[in-house]
Amino acid sequence: MNLQDQELRRQAMERVETYQPLVNQDPYRLHYHIMPPVGLLNDPNGFIHWKGTYHLFYQWMPFKTGHGAKFWGHYSSADLVHWRHEEIALTPSDWYDQNGCYSGSAIDENGLLHVFYTGNVRDEEGNRETYQCLAVSKDGITFEKQGVVARLPEGYTAHFRDPKVWKKNGRWYMVLGAQTERLEGRAVLFSSENLTEWSFLGDITGSHTAQLDEFGYMWECPDMITLGGKDVLIVCPQGLEAEGFRFQNVYQSGYFVGKLDERKPEFRHGEFEELDRGFDFYAPQTTQDESGRRILIAWMGVPDQGEQSHPTIPYEWVHCMTLPRELTLENNRLIQKPVQELRTLRQNGNSVQISLKQDAEMLDIVSPEKAEILLVPQYIEEGFEISFRGAARLIYRKAEGVLTLERQSYVDERTEARHCRIAGLKDLNIFLDASSVEIFVNGGEEVFTARYFPSPGNNHVWISGRKEIIMNVSSWTIA
Ligand code: FRU
Repeated sequence: MNLQDQELRRQAMERVETYQPLVNQDPYRLHYHIMPPVGLLNDPNGFIHWKGTYHLFYQWMPFKTGHGAKFWGHYSSADLVHWRHEEIALTPSDWYDQNGCYSGSAIDENGLLHVFYTGNVRDEEGNRETYQCLAVSKDGITFEKQGVVARLPEGYTAHFRDPKVWKKNGRWYMVLGAQTERLEGRAVLFSSENLTEWSFLGDITGSHTAQLDEFGYMWECPDMITLGGKDVLIVCPQGLEAEGFRFQNVYQSGYFVGKLDERKPEFRHGEFEELDRGFDFYAPQTTQDESGRRILIAWMGVPDQGEQSHPTIPYEWVHCMTLPRELTLENNRLIQKPVQELRTLRQNGNSVQISLKQDAEMLDIVSPEKAEILLVPQYIEEGFEISFRGAARLIYRKAEGVLTLERQSYVDERTEARHCRIAGLKDLNIFLDASSVEIFVNGGEEVFTARYFPSPGNNHVWISGRKEIIMNVSSWTIA
């Protein structure tokens, strides 16, 4: 531990202590989602199930509600639903990470927790430098930095970051997000035998390659996983133009299904699919847990997308994580289901059948600021809509086969909308927290994730039919 590290830890903890009373007064503090104790949270990092404990690190700026020289904050959990805030894992205190311990991942080797991250550096003129770094922990709590293990290859700008590491056939691989000197977004691959010496293998796919035309000027936060016998590259391209219902957010987050050939190297794949249909979803990271499930958590936010207009900012904190979701691959599509452990939080269960004809009914949800709702339509003539506490609406139009999430913008209070097409509606599993909504459609074939900021005191969840509907409604308080 160098002096700078000690000093940064001291300042961060002081900040937490000073602002915790203010932060805790915010009615938009979430009840069952991961948040920063103070300051700004963005990407999930180093997600791993290690020696029986889930560890989730996160990009943390403790000193303000904006971006900057990030720390790795740390939560741990035995069950993915009760989280404990741990001591800071990494501070930006060395020459190779002094402007941020940026995003990265974790693996186990010989019983030691290894985390790989990007050291972000600005030189005297403000030019960016990037270093891929390693830190190792015996107990999962305190880390010893090992310094730089991979450097920037030729042909790329310093937008080269977010290492995700895995092992295959006895070799280690690392995928990174990158930008070429011609400003094309790419995913690139390194490999290693010992985790400390890495060799650059090349691009595996990206914008302006054999497989894709124009596809963004930068790719961030790649994750390469194997599911259902296929390789899946999850990645966040920046610079895609909106088209129809797609690519409506400032930056995108989605995946390609295909086959990775590490030797070439090349990832042959199909079309890009978005992971989420809502407003706030970015930088997802997955891990395979000790039971073999593939679990995803994402940042419930998007860089540069109205971040400074969040109503939580006067309370000195901003952003949160999504719920953990179990991933499977069906017909080349990723399916996301809230992890089953969330059911252990269900209380005050209530089930009714409602039947409406062109009229509206208020759902009997005891605590809509922390609730789960399961809707199973029995009959839908034309469609319906559900209004959440006056601040968001979900609308289903059966004839068009379109599901829409509307919310009141926290930037200018206008109504904004996101849509997706579905072939029919089987069920909706909705998680409401004090300032978030996650809607799993048809068993997780589609998901809408969004922050929303209802007026405190408006606790009404209304459902109204467009012509006739019959629907089974179950709800729980999440506690
Ligand atoms: C994505 C990202 C990453 C980077 C990190 C910095 O949100 O820009 O590419 O490592 O955030 O906080």
